Amino acid sequence: MKIQILPSLLAADIGNLEAAARRAEECGADALHIDIMDGHFVPNISFGPNVVQMCKKCIKIPLSVHLMLSNPDQYVKRFRDAGADSLSIHIEAECDVPETLDLISDLGMRSGITLNPETPAKMIFPVIDQVDEVLCMTVHPGYGGQSFIADVLPKIHVIRERAKAAGKNLDIMVDGGINSDTAVLCAEQGANLLVAGTSLYALKDMRDGIYQMRQRAAEKLFV
Ligand code: DX5
Ligand code: ZN
Repeated sequence: MKIQILPSLLAADIGNLEAAARRAEECGADALHIDIMDGHFVPNISFGPNVVQMCKKCIKIPLSVHLMLSNPDQYVKRFRDAGADSLSIHIEAECDVPETLDLISDLGMRSGITLNPETPAKMIFPVIDQVDEVLCMTVHPGYGGQSFIADVLPKIHVIRERAKAAGKNLDIMVDGGINSDTAVLCAEQGANLLVAGTSLYALKDMRDGIYQMRQRAAEKLFV
């Protein structure tokens, strides 16, 4: 399993999203993370499929799309058509989750299941064999720039152990308050996909930030 670094576009300058997407790619990001919020599942509203489409046109790295939507099932095809390479839905969403995950896979995307910080690991066990990645939120979804919630760390470990026991090379993603220190804490528990918004976009030298985060986390990765 390899560490991958995914800058989160939510932290970019909204007036220059194309440049921000290109910057992530040029600085060595493995993929770009794009947050979609509906103002219902979470209190905030962010991007829609048109932003995914814009990114698809200007960069080649995969687009990791995180759907914070109450009814993600109704939008799967639209995000596929816009160019999403992976689509992650929440276990707390109000749709038929196993069916929606199947739809994501059937449409040729990587599928992901996301859990909020308070949601126990066992909630996703019924669908764990179905997904390519599990996204453990390390903040309450909705806003960038929040503090990392360390209480989530044992849950990452539980999910990694469960995947290992099943002989599955599961990608485990963390999202929220990730910087090069918290990235290491998550990697130690088994997380290998690291989403970072504020901590990377605020840097003068994003290339060095991505490099450092990757190196430090890779040294401690537990898989
Ligand atoms: C929060 C989003 C995150 C957000 C992370 O709901 O899912 O992807 O961009 O931002 P930082 O890294 O600033 O905590
Ligand atoms: Zn996200």
